[in-house]
Amino acid sequence: HVVDVVLTESAAKLVSATALAAVARRPVRTSMWEGVGDGRMDHIDLAADADAFVIAPATADLLARAATGRAADLLSACLLVTRAPILLAPAMNSRMWEHPFTRRNVEILSSLPNVHWVGPERGELACGWEGPGRMADPDKIVATPARLGRRDLEGRSFVVTAGPTREPLDPVRYLGNRSSGRMGQAVAEAAARRGAKVTLVRGPVDLPPPTAGVALVEVTTAAEMRREVLARWRRVDAVVMAAAVADWRARKVAPEKLKRTAATTTLELEANPDILAEMGRRRGKALRPVLIGFCVETTDLAAAARAKLAAKRCDLLVANLAQEAMGLPTARVEIHRPRGKPLGPFEGPKAEVAESILDAIGVELAIREKR
Ligand code: C5P
Repeated sequence: HVVDVVLTESAAKLVSATALAAVARRPVRTSMWEGVGDGRMDHIDLAADADAFVIAPATADLLARAATGRAADLLSACLLVTRAPILLAPAMNSRMWEHPFTRRNVEILSSLPNVHWVGPERGELACGWEGPGRMADPDKIVATPARLGRRDLEGRSFVVTAGPTREPLDPVRYLGNRSSGRMGQAVAEAAARRGAKVTLVRGPVDLPPPTAGVALVEVTTAAEMRREVLARWRRVDAVVMAAAVADWRARKVAPEKLKRTAATTTLELEANPDILAEMGRRRGKALRPVLIGFCVETTDLAAAARAKLAAKRCDLLVANLAQEAMGLPTARVEIHRPRGKPLGPFEGPKAEVAESILDAIGVELAIREKR
């Protein structure tokens, strides 16, 4: 690769521009204003020429600048100009990473179709603290840009479910859960970016519509989700069941608002049909579609994942701990298979974890192609 190095003012306090110029064998850019007299406009030229931007480390301040569209320094200005993939490798103190402002910036940046993440990882930080915030391994960062523009799922079709389902109790109340829908939506968006034809069947969530290329079907109850999934599942290559489908629904939905007449009350619930298990049963030994389940547990993750993989007869089971994923913009998952050791753990923003899940699905699809 030809590498142009852009050094921010803070970065120049830690590393020397001369050292970077020597290894890149190119001049290092530090300011928007140098070269202007020679007719250069670096923030436009660099951005227009680059096939990819890699920002390592991406500090909390850089994320804030990028998320708000600031453009007073060369790097931030380039990020506004480019439409090439931008790979962010965050590195910061874990409190900074977990701060609501940083969370919001990560979310805003993740909504851009050309933004990708690698890390941060957990471990000992430069400041001496332990936690999330370590920059991803440089080898991993270098390996990532090559896969960003890839269209390895071209010609494949997916149904992806996301979010909770809501089961009405009466005209004003429902049973629900804390699923945000982010993981499923991230999988749907990444699959579309990688070339697949994607339908996202989404429960009630507080998310923007998915990025271009994803067909959205909105549902409320498990029964509606089942109907929309079963109407499509036979025609696709993979069904990714990331939704947190409610296990129970009211046996009778009250036609009028229930009154609080006693200190305690009992709701009679009946089990919802298990959509994934039904597809697993009906598909049997057929090769298609590949079925991917998710599980969220609070303890004994591996044991639950193995049990669900068998009970639902799916091909991959993505397991996460509720406290590490539910309602958060980041996740840490292991991917269990009927045979062999689980893949992972994969950890980071959900958009990045989604890429790893799709890598695993891509392998399953390729295996079936050979048989
Ligand atoms: O059994 P549990 O709810 O933990 O299983 C989770 C997996 O099964 C998820 O992939 C979820 O989408 C799917 N599921 C389903 N229908 C249900 C309950 C869960 O398809 N009624």
